Amino acid sequence: MQIEEIFKFNKMDNMWVPKLILGDVRKVLPYLPDNFIDCVITSPPYWMQRDYKHPDQIGREETPEEYVKTIADIFELIRPKLKRTSTIFLNIGYKYLHEHLLLIPEMIALEMERRRFILRNKIIWWKPNAMPTPTRNRLNNVYESVLFFIRDDGKEVYYFNLEEVSPKSRTLDHYADLLSIAPQELLGVRAIDPISGRETKEGKVIGVRYTQTKILEVLIQWNDGTQEWLPFGDPLKNYPEKISFSCPKCGAPMNEWDIRLSLANLGKMICPECESLLCLDPETFPIPLLPSPHKDAQEIKEIIDLTVKTKKYITKIPRNSKFIKAGLDEILMASPAGRVAVQGEYI
Ligand SMILES: C[S@@+](CC[C@H](N)C(=O)[O-])C[C@H]1O[C@@H](n2cnc3c(N)ncnc32)[C@H](O)[C@@H]1O
Repeated sequence: MQIEEIFKFNKMDNMWVPKLILGDVRKVLPYLPDNFIDCVITSPPYWMQRDYKHPDQIGREETPEEYVKTIADIFELIRPKLKRTSTIFLNIGYKYLHEHLLLIPEMIALEMERRRFILRNKIIWWKPNAMPTPTRNRLNNVYESVLFFIRDDGKEVYYFNLEEVSPKSRTLDHYADLLSIAPQELLGVRAIDPISGRETKEGKVIGVRYTQTKILEVLIQWNDGTQEWLPFGDPLKNYPEKISFSCPKCGAPMNEWDIRLSLANLGKMICPECESLLCLDPETFPIPLLPSPHKDAQEIKEIIDLTVKTKKYITKIPRNSKFIKAGLDEILMASPAGRVAVQGEYI
């Protein structure tokens, strides 16, 4: 296959089709278009933890300092590929050498700062199921770090949706408090039985619809196997919809954030996809996408199925594995034994 063909990215129903490109990151990266990446999430091999028996492998450098340089050099290659609004999440674990705890994540953070990346958070990935250690003279290390960086461009304009990552936002109650909510955002949200005294009954939203009288209802799949349509929020309140838009030139979806960001950065409205200049006149203003008032539950179910299929395709989890039984959310977070099933080694 031609190299151009490999690096062509396809769209289906206005969504990018996921693509896996296997190769040494340093050889593959230069082929990606510049200003292309929204978010880097990566877990490179930790220093001296494993031997992948490959001449180009990362992680077998002679010293921690050389390892830190390898990682930072790779981020130099990534830099031009990043959009200004991009974010980086770099997972690096700790390592003991001759009884010394090496602060490799911190060494990387300092080196990245020297190379004009800004460290925004050291996120603690707590691993309650971490491998036990036979050592009796120190505490077991039960976390890894996830370093959150952005490009240092003198202006912080990266995309970060705190609402989305807040654990609170995962229950329906939280969404009911929001004044503006797109109905489809409720899909997958955790539901707790609204009848008091039955709080242990939990479920997930698998569908959303409006009734004839314009009341928003959610279809909940309870953990006891039953399904139920329940009204969502206070039916007497009028919940305004959060409106999405599409580009009048290429049809790509745009959200309020895209519009606000381009106005703030460039002083004009630019489609993030085809980069055409959009104006405030009705001819070239982004087209509002209003959700149809009567969402068909079956239609929504299909969207969910599609997402699940995509996740399965990426992770290739063996059938009948315990991670399947645990539910997809848990699979994506499984650690550390789950990593073998989830993170690539099977691919
Ligand atoms: C700790 S694993 C991370 C797995 C990853 N998080 C995933 O979900 O697939 C590290 C991976 O980096 C890969 N690796 C090692 N050296 C590499 C290199 N030079 N270029 C690209 N990948 C490399 C290894 O093969 C291994 O799969």
